[in-house]
Amino acid sequence: MHPRIFTLILLLLALAGVGCREGDPSPIDDTPYALQLPPGFPYPDIPEDNALTVARVALGKRLFYDPILSADSTISCASCHLPALAFADDAPISPGVGRRLGLRNAPTLANVAYLTLVNKDGGVPKLDLQALVPIEDHNEMDLSILSAALRLNAHPDYLEAFQRAYGEEASPFTITRALAAFLRILISGDSPYDRYEQGKGSLSESAKRGSALFFSERAQCSSCHSGFNFTDNGFHNNGLYDTYADPGRMRATFLPEDEGKFRVPTLRNIALTAPYMHDGSLPGLEAVIAHYNSGGSQHPNKDERIRPLGLSEMEKADLLAFLQALTDSTFIANPEFLPE
Ligand code: HEC
Ligand code: HEC
Repeated sequence: MHPRIFTLILLLLALAGVGCREGDPSPIDDTPYALQLPPGFPYPDIPEDNALTVARVALGKRLFYDPILSADSTISCASCHLPALAFADDAPISPGVGRRLGLRNAPTLANVAYLTLVNKDGGVPKLDLQALVPIEDHNEMDLSILSAALRLNAHPDYLEAFQRAYGEEASPFTITRALAAFLRILISGDSPYDRYEQGKGSLSESAKRGSALFFSERAQCSSCHSGFNFTDNGFHNNGLYDTYADPGRMRATFLPEDEGKFRVPTLRNIALTAPYMHDGSLPGLEAVIAHYNSGGSQHPNKDERIRPLGLSEMEKADLLAFLQALTDSTFIANPEFLPE
C-alpha cells in the first residue's frame, strides 16, 4: 500500500475511534486477561485504548479464524498464519483471495506483542493497526474495512460480542483492536533450549555446541538475533542478493541506505516456519546456514557482520541442532490459541 494512502487511513481510523466511543451506554465486560509470560519475558507494552480483556481476546480469536473478513469469504487470517506452523505458512508466498499472490513470506505471529514496528519493512507503526493491511490488500483478503464492519454488525452475536468487548459495534477501530488483543496473547518461550537454560531439561551435546557457536564472536548470529526473542528489532541487510526485487525497509523510508534491509526475525519456532527470508527463497535451515557460511552477496548495504564463516560440517550440524531446539511444542498446541 502507498504510504500516503496508509496515513489517510490511519487518520480515518483515529476519527472512527473517537467518534464511536462517545455516549454509548452499552455495558462492557472488562474482566482483565491474565497474560502468561515465560521467565525472562518482560510485560509487553499495551496501548491504553486497548487494555487486554477476556472479551476482547475471545472476539479477536473468533475474527482471526473467520473467513468473513475476506471479499469472497474464503480466506481467514489463519489461512496464511497456521497454528501448527507457529502461525506461519509453508508456502514461499501464501495465496490470498482468488489465489492471488502477494510480495512476501508469511511470518510467525509468535511474540508479535513485542514488535516496535510491524511488518518486515517496519511500514506499520503499531500492532493495533496491522490487521488493516491484510484485510484491505487486494492480494490477501481484499475487503474494505468498512464493508467488514457492515458484515459483522449484520450478525447479532458478533454485534453483541463487540458491545461486550468495546461497548461499541464493529468498526475499523474495534475490528483492528480486537485482532491485536488476540495477537498479543500469542506468547512463545517454552522450547527445549529455554528449559535447559532454566535448569529444567537437557539438550544434546550437538545443540549445546551449536548454542556456543550461535552466541560466539566468530559467528555473530546473536548480535542481530539477540535477547529473549532472538531479535534486536532492527533492520539489517543480511546479504541475500546483489540486487533486491523487494527493497525492504526502503519501501517505508525511501532512503537508499535502507535498500535490502529487513527486520531481524525472531528465531523462536524457526524449524516450523520454512521456507525462510522475506521472500521464502531459502527452503530449509541447511540452506540458511549455507547462506551465512558463504558470506552472502556483494550488496553495498550488506552488514559487515555477514562474511564467510568457514564452518566445518560438524559446526553446521551443531548450529542446526541448536536452531531445532528453539521449537516450543506447547505453543502450537495451546487450546487458548486454537479455534473453539
Ligand atoms: C494471504 C496471506 C495472509 C493473510 C490472509 C493474512 N496475512 Fe498476516 N502476513 C502475511 C504476510 C505475507 C506478512 C508479511 C508482510 C510484510 O512484512 O510486509 C504478514 C504479516 C503479518 C503481521 C506482522 C508480523 C511481523 O512480524 O511483522 C501480523 C501481525 C499479521 N500478518 C497478522 C494478520 C492478521 C491479524 C490477519 C487477518 C486479519 C492476517 N495477518 C492475514 C500474510 C497474510
Ligand atoms: C547483521 C544481522 C544478522 C546477523 C549477523 C545474522 N542474521 Fe539471521 N537474519 C537477519 C535478517 C535481517 C534476517 C531477515 C532477512 C529477510 O527477511 O530477508 C535474518 C533471517 C534469518 C533466518 C530466517 C528467519 C525467517 O523467519 O525467515 C534465520 C534462520 C537466521 N537469520 C539465522 C541466523 C544465524 C544462524 C546467524 C549466524 C550464523 C544469523 N542469522 C546471523 C539478520 C542477521
